This record gives sequence, C-alpha cells and structure tokens, in this order.
Amino acid sequence: MKIISDPLALQQDLKEIDKTVGFVPTMGALHEGHITLIKRAREENEIVVVSVFVNPTQFLAGEDLDKYPKKDDADKKICELAGVDILFFPTAEDMYSKDEVKICAPNVRGYVLEGATRPGHFSGVLRVVMKLLNIVSPTRAYFGKKDAQQLHLITLMVKQFFMSVAIVPVDIVRDSDGLALSSRNVYLSKAQREEALKIPKSLYAASKLISKNILDTAKIKEEMYAILAPLEIEYAEVLNRDFEMIQKVEIGNTIILVEVIVGETRLLDNIWF
Ligand code: PAJ
Repeated sequence: MKIISDPLALQQDLKEIDKTVGFVPTMGALHEGHITLIKRAREENEIVVVSVFVNPTQFLAGEDLDKYPKKDDADKKICELAGVDILFFPTAEDMYSKDEVKICAPNVRGYVLEGATRPGHFSGVLRVVMKLLNIVSPTRAYFGKKDAQQLHLITLMVKQFFMSVAIVPVDIVRDSDGLALSSRNVYLSKAQREEALKIPKSLYAASKLISKNILDTAKIKEEMYAILAPLEIEYAEVLNRDFEMIQKVEIGNTIILVEVIVGETRLLDNIWF
C-alpha cells in the first residue's frame, strides 16, 4: 500500500493508471462502517483509494475539531488489511489555500436538518469532497447512508457540476446493540451509550408503525419524540428522498432521520423506506 500526502503527486500517479478506481473519503478513526465501504470499493474496482483527512472547514467554531479521534497507525493497518492500494493522508495546508474559491451548500436542502443545526457544515463537506474527487478522479466514490443528507448533497453536487463519477450509497452498519457505528461513539460513557440506544429504538418503532400501515408522518414523529425524550433532540423528521416535507410515508421514497445530542456528542441515524 502506498501512502501519499501530496495532492498533485496523487493526481499524477492516478492519471498514469488506466484502471477503474474506487474511492472512499473518510476522516479516519476507521470502524466497521468505513471498512464496509472499503470492501465494497475493493469488490467493484481494480484500484482502491482511501483518504483520511479531518477536514477543518466542516467543523463549526466550538465543535470537536481538536479532539476528533486520531488513530493514524491503526487506520494504516486497517487499510492495508482491507487491500487498499493508495492511502491519501494530506494536511490542511496540502488541501487549502489562504484565499479560496468557495463552493456552498444549496439553500433549500443544505440548510435544513443538520444544515440548520450546524450552519456552514455542508459547505465545508462539499468543498472538501469536490477537491478530493478532483484529485482522485475515481470511477466510483462510496458514501454511507448513515450521513443521508451529506450523501444527498454530494449526489446533487456531482450531478449539477457534471462531474463524471458514480456515487455509490452504502447501507448503515450498526453495532450488535443497534447503535449506528460512528467515530464519535468513543466519546460516550457507558450510561450515555444506554441513552443513545433510544435512537435505533425510535427508528424501530417508526418502522413498526409503517408495517401496520400507519403512514401519517405526524403520528410517526409523535411516537419517535416520546421514545427519544428526554434526550436533546435536534430533529426527528420524516421526509421524502429529496428531503422535502411529506404528510404520508411514500414507500420506496421516504427517509426517517434523527439527530440527538447525548452529553456533548452529536449522533445521527436514519432509516429508509
Ligand atoms: P466520516 O465520518 O469518517 O465517514 C466517512 C464515510 O463513512 C461517510 O460516507 C459515512 O457516511 C460513512 N460511514 C460512517 N459511519 C458509517 C456507518 N455506521 N455505516 C455506513 N457508513 C458509515 O463523512 C465523513 O467522514 C466526512 O464528512 C467526509 C465525507 C470524509 C468529508 O470530510
């Protein structure tokens, strides 16, 4: 496995290779969720590139940029074992200039849900993903459904900017207790983790209602809020897959999304119908 930190060197290397390239962008502290994306990329492409970059522009002032878990050595081993060909490990200086051309999240779908609770976050995500995709020029890029709104906005960006990469959504990977895997789960104490299990419970309750043909979104949200209380709920929403409000669940076109804060840790989860 090659480890490269210089974006132009990586871009040059990949230009010389005439093979399909699968790309998995990450912020490191890799877990089974990331590994699932990497395995999928391994199965579907000749070359696999993974990036590990804790992108400063997607963190708001006062968020956990400085304490975001760093596991560089473990990440390298995980990538090596998963058959990654190239690990891209840039610094912030490698990725950003002092006076930057900016790309911003769209107003309607970029400033609701997590875009509302973390204003500016998605502009930072899109900026870095645009850069990463331009450096790697992959055939396919893999993103988790866990960050559903991120996935949606990246898909829109790629379409609207006529970028020639296929965005591949990958299902959420959960721990045996149901909690969605996240690099931020290490922040949770045992008691907080117990509390956090209300998140998958609320999604499970929503899917039970839907299986009984109760499709009224207000009813579903009411049930979810009752289960999530007294956690600090940022949102629990039932939307269509274009992230628009709906009155009734449309099977095949609905996402139920939750964001809560447990202690100081922001946790996201969702389920697709
Ligand atoms: P990060 O949180 O490290 O996640 C990297 C990728 O792994 C994302 O596509 C995310 O959705 C996916 N992922 C994380 N946990 C998952 C889980 N439990 N199941 C399935 N997929 C999971 O998301 C980011 O980094 C950054 O915003 C990034 C896109 C790299 C831009 O900086």
